[in-house]
Amino acid sequence: MSAPAGRARPQAPALDLGALIEDRETRIVVCCGAGGVGKTTTSAALALAAAEAGRSVVVLTIDPARRLAQSLGLTELDNEPRRVHIPGGAATGELHAMMLDMKRTFDDIVAAHSTPERAQAILDNPFYQTLSSSFSGTQEYMAMEKLGQLRASDQWDLIIVDTPPSRSALDFLDAPNRMSRFLDGTMIRLLMAPSRAGFKFASAGFLLFSRIVSKILGGQLLRDISAFVAALDTMFGGFRERATATYELLRRPGTSFVVVASPEPDALREASYFVDRLSADAMPLAGLVVNRTHPPATAALSATRAESAAEEVLEAGGPDAPLAAAALRVHAERMTLAAREQHLADRFTSAHPEVAVRTVPAAAGDVHDLDGLRTMAAALTGADEDTPTGTPRTRILPARRG
Ligand SMILES: Nc1ncnc2c1ncn2[C@@H]1O[C@H](COP(=O)(O)OP(=O)(O)OP(=O)(O)O)[C@@H](O)[C@H]1O
Ligand SMILES: [Mg+2]
Repeated sequence: MSAPAGRARPQAPALDLGALIEDRETRIVVCCGAGGVGKTTTSAALALAAAEAGRSVVVLTIDPARRLAQSLGLTELDNEPRRVHIPGGAATGELHAMMLDMKRTFDDIVAAHSTPERAQAILDNPFYQTLSSSFSGTQEYMAMEKLGQLRASDQWDLIIVDTPPSRSALDFLDAPNRMSRFLDGTMIRLLMAPSRAGFKFASAGFLLFSRIVSKILGGQLLRDISAFVAALDTMFGGFRERATATYELLRRPGTSFVVVASPEPDALREASYFVDRLSADAMPLAGLVVNRTHPPATAALSATRAESAAEEVLEAGGPDAPLAAAALRVHAERMTLAAREQHLADRFTSAHPEVAVRTVPAAAGDVHDLDGLRTMAAALTGADEDTPTGTPRTRILPARRG
């Protein structure tokens, strides 16, 4: 996968997120990537930009930082989109936001698909409670489920989806299938006949599973499971169909994936997995956002020259020398950092030359209010060459000429 050692620096195509969110054909944007890289912030910033560009947007966030949630008016988990008041009147569209509460989403599905008595029996069931709050992959599945619901309601013309921090790229895309397999055949069938005879033929893997679940849930296990399965039985088809439908929805034109990474080896490695996986599943990739980069104030002075200039200034002496030398050293450090980040981004582009890139500089502090989101949105959607140093937004340092 790695590129041959070439002389020319790889040039990534420019990622035009402004055009993407303004395009009425774009109906769903999914932001994915490694943990902590800025998926939630990017989702919120893109949603704000889209609302200000006149679209009616809902952003589905997962576990936003508390202060960001507050600025979006999300003070409690309520699983329904809330309109975000955008001060200044710049927005010609509408911004709605919601936080995903996976247990609540699960509960809503149960309530929507059975009688009140049966729904209550399911909700009270310990096995159900464990499944809905801690089954591995449930959160990914629920994000898909909620997306399906939002899309079906057709109330918004653009849905921006944040995704849970998944250690592996597979977790997110596999969620519908994994849930479907879980609810399907073998295991459920075994659970449906929890007699001794049934267990005699159960596989070692299943017995291990039931022993683990038994440990978690205690002696009530089999009774609970039988009750749970009997009550949910009629809903299984629905779960599976909706999971498959949402998965298919993601592959349709009108959906775009934005992979977010920080300019660090692990995050970019994870981004590589996402890009490969999205392409293997024929999911439409818009491109890569390299978030929290550290471009220098000017690239005209190299790190080496700044270092030696600092020495010279100190040798020359004078009252301002220490300050000037310190400023030169800060610049030298920044150039070194930017060069390292650019090198990592170049490595990604060598391996994936077709993937469009947009870099977003780190803000001075956290991005937790609408002003911060607006600044980030400008970096995400602004014209490619429109930066203070003229370095295109595909890069952190200008491409060296000659
Ligand atoms: N460009 C930026 N400049 C400065 N801070 C940023 C930037 N982007 C994100 N942050 C900050 O980084 C932190 C992590 O961002 P965020 O919550 O969006 O990441 P995430 O990928 O959603 O994390 P998780 O995987 O935990 O869900 C937040 O405090 C956010 O304010
Ligand atoms: Mg997040």
